[in-house]
Amino acid sequence: MTSKQATPHQIQTQLLDWYEIEARDLPWRRTRDPYAIWISEIMLQQTRVETVLAYYEPFLDRFPGLDALATASIDDVFKAWEGLGYYKRAQNLHQASRILVDQYEGKLPSSAGGLRKLPGIGPYTAGAIASIAFGKDEPVLDGNVIRVISRLFCIAGDVAKAATKKELLEAVSSMIPTGSASAFNQALMDLGARICLSRNPQCKECPVADFCDAHRTKQESVYPQKAKKAKIPHIDVVAGAIWDGEPFAATSRLLIAQRKLDDMLGGLWELPGGTVEEGETLEDALHRELQEELAIEVKILKPFIDIKHTYTHFRMTLHVFHCRHTKGEPQSIDVADWTWAHPNKLDTFAFPTADRKILSALKSMTAEHAE
Ligand code: ADE
Repeated sequence: MTSKQATPHQIQTQLLDWYEIEARDLPWRRTRDPYAIWISEIMLQQTRVETVLAYYEPFLDRFPGLDALATASIDDVFKAWEGLGYYKRAQNLHQASRILVDQYEGKLPSSAGGLRKLPGIGPYTAGAIASIAFGKDEPVLDGNVIRVISRLFCIAGDVAKAATKKELLEAVSSMIPTGSASAFNQALMDLGARICLSRNPQCKECPVADFCDAHRTKQESVYPQKAKKAKIPHIDVVAGAIWDGEPFAATSRLLIAQRKLDDMLGGLWELPGGTVEEGETLEDALHRELQEELAIEVKILKPFIDIKHTYTHFRMTLHVFHCRHTKGEPQSIDVADWTWAHPNKLDTFAFPTADRKILSALKSMTAEHAE
């Protein structure tokens, strides 16, 4: 292989030419509406394109513009976000839409600095919106772009470290072709997503392989450099399918509770329960949690289902028990709200993914009992 000294101009041209032909046809690339682009970029934070595709258009149908979002209830926004994860994003979008209507005449700021003042918009998202929606020459640096740039220039150092990130940001900023940041940034995103893969990079297909230091020196697998991740811990969680009558009887309802807004999964509804403490039995943990959160007593009837779920920072086994409510009007002690709901009415509430698995089992069993 002949090695070539990369010049920013050559890399820019190769990338832009490639993007013109190979750009992924994504719905948020068919609009110039800053509102729609903002929604897409918030959804794309920490979430794969394939997942976002199922949410983006339904969300815009439900909330077609800033006013619709700002006047909606937070519960409606959570419902549209249900299953997408990182629910703080939905809270931030909703809060930002109200700030934009009240203080910004209903328009998103066009500069990266202005965008960053809004809740939920960090440096990456500000750069993406400023470049894609407003044509500003701003860089973006997410996991995909970091991989591309660290390989192109063999930039060493743990990419989680601020000093390495700074070096990467300087490198990518210096390469932005004046007036074409939108296409250039999205070309880098697409290159990272489709060609410059973590494992098995497709260098034969890469438009800038000739200029890539890592490729030239066969060090693709060395970059980007990352410190070894600590193994993520496992926790056991208990929850009650708490009935106000005979389980699955036609008129029996289930107790559901809303998580506090500032907690993880804040604002979502769940079957009440909590984390099992060391040395505690599952049953003891459930009784304790129901006392602490809602001041109620239940009779635990039988185990119902175990659900395994992995979050970013821990793995969880959720042990669910059928229970009968025996004592105490529920009180919102450590929950935002609670209600009794018939299994057929649960679809109107937004639940975390793990709880939705329980509810779909409950619903099919409710249907069987009704037959
Ligand atoms: N990831 C984050 N922003 C993106 C965009 N605009 N297109 C594709 N992937 C992305």
